[in-house]
Amino acid sequence: LDNGVARTPPMGWNTWNTFGCNINETLIQQTADAIVANGLRDLGYKYVVVDDCWFNPNRDAQGNLQAHPQRFPSGMKALGDYLHARGLLFGIYQVPLDKTCAQVGGAFPGATGSLNHEYQDARQFAAWGVDYLKYDWCSGTGTINDQVARFGIMRDALASTGRPIVYSINPNSYHAKTGPQRNWSDVANLWRTTEDITNAWNTGQTNGYPMGIQNIVDVTVPLAGYAAPGGFNDPDMLEVGRGGMNDTEMRSHFALWSMLAAPLMMGNDVRSANAATLAILRNANLVAINQDTLGRQAVQVSFDGTRRVLAKPLANGDVAVALFNQGSSTTTVSTTAAAIGKSGSSFTLRDAWTDATSSTSGTISASVPAHGTVVYRVSGGGTTTPPPVPTTFRLRSES
Ligand code: GLA
Repeated sequence: LDNGVARTPPMGWNTWNTFGCNINETLIQQTADAIVANGLRDLGYKYVVVDDCWFNPNRDAQGNLQAHPQRFPSGMKALGDYLHARGLLFGIYQVPLDKTCAQVGGAFPGATGSLNHEYQDARQFAAWGVDYLKYDWCSGTGTINDQVARFGIMRDALASTGRPIVYSINPNSYHAKTGPQRNWSDVANLWRTTEDITNAWNTGQTNGYPMGIQNIVDVTVPLAGYAAPGGFNDPDMLEVGRGGMNDTEMRSHFALWSMLAAPLMMGNDVRSANAATLAILRNANLVAINQDTLGRQAVQVSFDGTRRVLAKPLANGDVAVALFNQGSSTTTVSTTAAAIGKSGSSFTLRDAWTDATSSTSGTISASVPAHGTVVYRVSGGGTTTPPPVPTTFRLRSES
């Protein structure tokens, strides 16, 4: 969406994965302070997104949304001010139908969705200083055309406020998905590609709840052609630091989300993040690959069912390569400079995890543990040519 924001994937934190409905302003303030103190803000993690359950179950007499009186007694404007004063940005959650997902599920009372309140709510968000809206289709009913229409109304309502607001939609959770996924870049800055993520490597789901890391990668890789500055596939929020996976899998998750040009929205309790978690979230090499201004999602170079190679072209002519082992034992994963679109005969590989550099005349290879991902930034060589984009991953401007 060409609305001036999300020219690179947004980074930040969201309440949902760890806290669900159990949120309040103290939690948000403490987390914001931790994001600043841990150096995460300065790495780019700026959007602090308050997910479902922040609101009063009743609108006011004029139909305006209100903050939940016990959870956010200072109000949402004050919360936005708190974040802005610390160099952070403010995100909030709403839905295009009559009930939020927590209201549909019965975890929260009322029916405060934005249906028929779209312009009123957009004006309210702008007045509160909101910089990011997560807008979630919480219903198994409705056609794609219904979704395009309803998500489009809020797109236009946000634009009418004049405030730059990242527009993040979820057309793919809580909704029957059949056939190829739509490219939502005409509607939103971010669009979810699957049902909700969980902190597990593989839940065996390809199109159901919940989705493991491996399963989300399977669905999102073929959508590479949809990603561009202003509009990115959203494979859901990070599970880094949430348990349920070993360190290799946690690192793989973060490396793959970086390669997929995914929004990097932390989902852990940042206040108590341990050193291993922070080492992953603060990997500046991977953040730079994710935030590269070319805004391309990695394309698949090869996949034999176990060894998957992804390549992400970068603005300065370098190419980031992921050597991903989906198998259950250590194996060598290999590609070549030519296969990722590099010409020439002399290249430097910088390992995104160790920061070590090595030279190669063309072979790019590593021994990768089970579920591991080695990422190299490949530079040097002669003139670069664009990496090959397989037919199913064609950019939308290509035929
Ligand atoms: C849906 C979304 C989640 C979260 C919850 C809130 O399940 O996919 O990310 O926003 O709703 O209820």
